[in-house]
Amino acid sequence: KRIERELENALYANSPLLKETSLHYLHAGGKRIRPVFVLLSSKFGEEDNSLIRDVAVSLELIHMASLIHDDVVDNADIRRGRPTVKAKWDNRIAMYTGDYILAKSLELISKLDSDEAHQVLSKTMVELSIGEIEQIRDKFNFDQPLTNYFRRIKRKTALLIASCCQLGAIAAGASESVHRKLFQFGYYVGMAFQIKDDLLDLTSDEEKLGKPAGSDLLQGNITLPVLLALRDPKVKKEIVKVQEITDQNFMEKIISLIKETDALEKTIEISKKYVDKALQILEELPENETKTLLKSMIYYVVQRQY
Ligand code: IPE
Ligand code: IPE
Ligand code: MG
Ligand code: MG
Repeated sequence: KRIERELENALYANSPLLKETSLHYLHAGGKRIRPVFVLLSSKFGEEDNSLIRDVAVSLELIHMASLIHDDVVDNADIRRGRPTVKAKWDNRIAMYTGDYILAKSLELISKLDSDEAHQVLSKTMVELSIGEIEQIRDKFNFDQPLTNYFRRIKRKTALLIASCCQLGAIAAGASESVHRKLFQFGYYVGMAFQIKDDLLDLTSDEEKLGKPAGSDLLQGNITLPVLLALRDPKVKKEIVKVQEITDQNFMEKIISLIKETDALEKTIEISKKYVDKALQILEELPENETKTLLKSMIYYVVQRQY
């Protein structure tokens, strides 16, 4: 509740338009897993201080800004069950709302006195941008190798979650060996999180997701389950048609074709490998009560239904 309040305060703007646009996603909800990772990781440090909450708020704001920009890139009309900023206003307003939120996030985190934290965060933001640009480049490329996919999700998702874990620990004064391990932990959890997200896009529905199912493929974003299904030539022949045919019936046909292959099981297997890695790193971290909570976060990430 406190983080929610601080998120709201952080976005305070004099401009009535900016106030409305920047609070739009905040009020629409969201799981807030990034602040949770910051707060839990901070328990590996010594101190409980307000800086930890600033870091938590700042990292959720970076995420929020990236979503606003992502919806421009993906031409998405619905997020968190509501019209996107780009749909309700327009692309130009979405660009500057994203920039404004990003700037607010940097203002907050500037209080953190750690060169390493700022280097990690800048690198993450650079990589996130590269990940999104590469996703545009690889749109509707049905022949891309799996390595493209893994590199892309590392950049666009996993590194930010890794940073949440490391920066939470740094803000609490944790030792270097501990905060670096937490970065590794967050990276593996982040990979599993995005793989699950890509799976849900095919297996869930609009009511649960807050956005239409199958949107990744419709937008040309070729995810792991689709890449695995493409290995079957008969299925591939159908999937490649999504570039031209975009009606809902055809999408449903494609989704059931994918489900007939072993692509979904294989995807789950791969995400389990990341989960195991995360659990292994957790073992190597010092014993404390928070470890149980971080463990439940890992299971939440892969078991969630939305
Ligand atoms: C959406 O992130 C974008 C991805 C990296 C998959 P979340 O699934 O954390 O989105 P919210 O914040 O809960 O809406
Ligand atoms: C996630 O990308 C957004 C960022 C990490 C910037 P996606 O395009 O895959 O996620 P959704 O489906 O829009 O949430
Ligand atoms: Mg998107
Ligand atoms: Mg995207």
